[in-house]
Amino acid sequence: MRGIQVSDTTPRLEIRNLMRQFDGRMVVNDVSLTVMPGQVTCLLGPSGCGKSTTLRMIAGVDMQDSGEIYVDGSLVCDTVFRIPPERRSVGLMFQDFALFPHLSVAENVAFGLSGSKEEKRARVEELLSRVNLLRFIDEYPHNLSGGEQQRVALARALAPRPRIMLMDEPFSGLDNRLRDEIRDSTLEVLKSEGSAVLLVTHEPEEAMRMADEIALMRDGKIVQQGAPYNIYNSPVDLNAAQFFSDVNVINGTVQGALTDTAFGQFLAPGVADGTRVNIVIRPQHVKIDFDRSGRGPDPSPQTGTPARAIVERARFLGKESLVEFRLEYDGSYMTAAVPAVFLPAPGTPMWLMVRRERCHVYQETPAA
Ligand SMILES: Nc1ncnc2c1ncn2[C@@H]1O[C@H](COP(=O)(O)OP(=O)(O)OP(=O)(O)O)[C@@H](O)[C@H]1O
Ligand SMILES: [Mg+2]
Repeated sequence: MRGIQVSDTTPRLEIRNLMRQFDGRMVVNDVSLTVMPGQVTCLLGPSGCGKSTTLRMIAGVDMQDSGEIYVDGSLVCDTVFRIPPERRSVGLMFQDFALFPHLSVAENVAFGLSGSKEEKRARVEELLSRVNLLRFIDEYPHNLSGGEQQRVALARALAPRPRIMLMDEPFSGLDNRLRDEIRDSTLEVLKSEGSAVLLVTHEPEEAMRMADEIALMRDGKIVQQGAPYNIYNSPVDLNAAQFFSDVNVINGTVQGALTDTAFGQFLAPGVADGTRVNIVIRPQHVKIDFDRSGRGPDPSPQTGTPARAIVERARFLGKESLVEFRLEYDGSYMTAAVPAVFLPAPGTPMWLMVRRERCHVYQETPAA
């Protein structure tokens, strides 16, 4: 690789302005991101948005039309210069992580290793104990469960100490209960190895669970990047908000940089008069209070004006109850999530409040 000094602030992986077209269609459109050593970044987005294509270019099994890829500050690939996949210090783990069936667990893990027999054995034992599978060292893959095979594959990918781990939906072949456990143990191993990890998933929960940083991708572009907390609580647009959970959308029209709603006025600074806006709030951030002969709680700066609403339906989903309401103000519907068993009868009048700091105002975009 073309040498540049590596410092603590040099990203382990940096991609700049990657572009890739297939049959004249832009599939990866100007994607840039960085991953620091020891950091897990999740590339999250719906099916077909270009996640795997991005990963394949970083791995070197596909070639971008333009843009550059750097590892530790050194160029590994642009449109003229290209280091082959096997020399990129990249570990790969894909959904179909097939182990070699005719090799033992130890031989599988040692597959990409160089060095003396003793050195290889020591590294294999180190990794297998890290993934809690040392007892299977001399077994063959067909004697292992799906989850155990997955952990062997992880050990195999990490054995040569790759500077970067690329993981493409690595947990999607596992059943639900196993998956959570394996995600957590995988994360632990990845952190202890210090590689930079770029993990592709289309499941927001997986990204929230695994990522130090999420890069949200849509139609070939990264639309938002940041810590899970920020992406969840400050989504860049309605679509980004909806990707993580069901949301309530309150519609309004701007007049004098303000819009009127059942919950009082919302600021829409810089938005022209007559523009339609969507005020978005997650069900978890809608508060409920009881009706006292037609009176509700007092307005507050935190929640604005309460709005009276009638219960339409209530369901208990195990961790929380979802209560659907119809607002008296304009007949629109809203859902509130309550972290308990709370099942008011349909027709019950109640009062709703929205946590102002959790409301996001977006200009309405015409449907595509
Ligand atoms: N080699 C190829 N030739 C033509 N089109 C391709 C090729 N590889 C990918 N595509 C197209 O590019 C788009 C993005 O594909 P990609 O596999 O990157 O999506 P993805 O985000 O990984 O989706 P998923 O979550 O379903 O795996 C898709 O529409 C796909 O059909
Ligand atoms: Mg994919």
